[in-house]
Amino acid sequence: TRNVLIDVDTGVDDALGLLLAIHSKEVDVTAITTVNGNVSLETATLNTCKIVELTGEINIPVVPGANQPLKRATHFEHRIHGTDGIGGALSDMVPSKTPEDAYAPNYMIELAKSSEKPLTFIMTGPLTNLAEAVQRCPELPDYVEEVVFMGGVVSEMGNITPVAEYNVFVDPEAAKMVLDAGFKKLTQVGLDVTRKALLTEEHLKQLDGTKYGAYIRQSTSDYMKRYIERNGVKACAMHDPLAVAVAIQPNVVKKKHLYVDVETTSRICDGQTVCDFQNRLGQPPNVEVSLEVDADAFLDLFVQTIRIPMEE
Ligand code: BDR
Ligand code: CA
Repeated sequence: TRNVLIDVDTGVDDALGLLLAIHSKEVDVTAITTVNGNVSLETATLNTCKIVELTGEINIPVVPGANQPLKRATHFEHRIHGTDGIGGALSDMVPSKTPEDAYAPNYMIELAKSSEKPLTFIMTGPLTNLAEAVQRCPELPDYVEEVVFMGGVVSEMGNITPVAEYNVFVDPEAAKMVLDAGFKKLTQVGLDVTRKALLTEEHLKQLDGTKYGAYIRQSTSDYMKRYIERNGVKACAMHDPLAVAVAIQPNVVKKKHLYVDVETTSRICDGQTVCDFQNRLGQPPNVEVSLEVDADAFLDLFVQTIRIPMEE
């Protein structure tokens, strides 16, 4: 098994990523850190505690991090994820699980340095916490086996501006810092592949009557409505769970090792991840860029892993 730390801005799909990671036998979730993004830090942390409590794995530490991007204002996404971030599901739950009294970037550094097995970081929100950790500890990459991040897009359009993906757009300075930090293996799971990883009614049916069936139906209901408005099909993109799946089963995506940079100084292209497919800049590759996905294999992994029978 791999030891992982997951950084989330929980988020409908972040929550599904957490369920996948917590129930996967291939990874051991040693900590969950939270960041502002889809919702405020406070709400992301509360949602994360609720999900952890729902799984029953209440010993996994939840550690709050940055409450705003490095240099920019917050940019919440209540229209997509609901005011509460998880589509109104679990609204009555008052979790007994509480966050640690620690700060995520420091916690990441300490955990990476003290971990027996090198850690893998799975990042499914804006990259602020990891950027701050690298600022505080430039040798952090030496202690980390791999960083898998959901963010960016290199071969098609964005989802927040014409060219930018949400997580990178929200904190492009942080994303640039992470890309430039010298991680041994930095795997990008961007919209190029996550848009093809769709949860549909068929999957919801497979989960009906199981432990998470009702939660997932409720949580994804409005999220799917947004998808229908744009694409005319009842489904939703499993952005963050796919990043988790790549840590569990790397061959669900096909990757290329390429140089990627982030635009941070443009009126219209801020947050764009620019991939140098033909090495025109002469820079050494810094990112394993996911370009193809076996969506069926991924969704099968997702459904089978979290298809837990209802407790008596
Ligand atoms: C990313 O943005 C967020 O809204 C999702 O949780 C995902 O991490 C997709 O662009
Ligand atoms: Ca997210």
